[in-house]
Amino acid sequence: MEVIIQPDHDCAALLVARVIAKEIRAKPDLVLGLATGKTMEAVYRLLVRMHAAEGLDFSRCRTFNLDEYVGLAPGDSHSYRFYMNDHLFRNVNIDLRNTHVPDGMANDLGAECRRYEAAIARVGGIDLQLLGIGQAGHIGFNEPLSALRSRTRVKALTPTTVAQNAPLFGGADRMPRRAVTMGVGTIIEARRCFLLATGDSKADIIAQAVEGPITSMITASALQLHPRCTVVVDEAAGAKLKEKEYYRWIFENEPEWQDFR
Ligand code: F6R
Repeated sequence: MEVIIQPDHDCAALLVARVIAKEIRAKPDLVLGLATGKTMEAVYRLLVRMHAAEGLDFSRCRTFNLDEYVGLAPGDSHSYRFYMNDHLFRNVNIDLRNTHVPDGMANDLGAECRRYEAAIARVGGIDLQLLGIGQAGHIGFNEPLSALRSRTRVKALTPTTVAQNAPLFGGADRMPRRAVTMGVGTIIEARRCFLLATGDSKADIIAQAVEGPITSMITASALQLHPRCTVVVDEAAGAKLKEKEYYRWIFENEPEWQDFR
């Protein structure tokens, strides 16, 4: 794992957007794993701007989202399909047929989960997986005690996650309690992972996920097993990390990051 500490949310989002843009330019048919949530909004805004200003070309990209709420239709403004169309897909030249979000309305959710895994396998796996982290330490909706080898499946949301996301629904009673999510095992098979976390509400969980033991209680800690995972935080989210000076030295000195300093 590598940790990059940026001064603020905007700088952290810009770094992630620039990495994604670089990967798309290097491999135009990149398979991107995407996350939703507040933290990612700035990343998508920047990618849209790069498309408009620099011609960043999404026409051959394939995308797979991490998760979707059970029971929400694509046209529901709270669904993650709606979020993706709104924040990214309809603002760039991506072919919507190449964008994939689990179907939370499927009659047979088990079959939908198997179909989703097969679709990822058919394109040869995910090249670059974008991740956020929930206050319960989840990646995707892999809540505490998710098996670290789990695959795409239905997961019940913890009270912490319900409390985190309920304001978006206008109250917990209006929010779905289950979601289809890629598994931890699915996520860590991506060739490269990028986790973005900003703000002081993420400081405790980032310190535990990055520097604490690997545990299914904090599924983001499974990223410690990944051979190529980068965690990008702002100063606030990185505040409780113990080895900050080491992480800063690596970012300032290692050639891999010279285009991003
Ligand atoms: C959403 C997802 C979640 C979020 C996480 C952080 O697709 O996978 O794991 O990334 O809950 O959400 P925000 O950014 O709203 O704090």
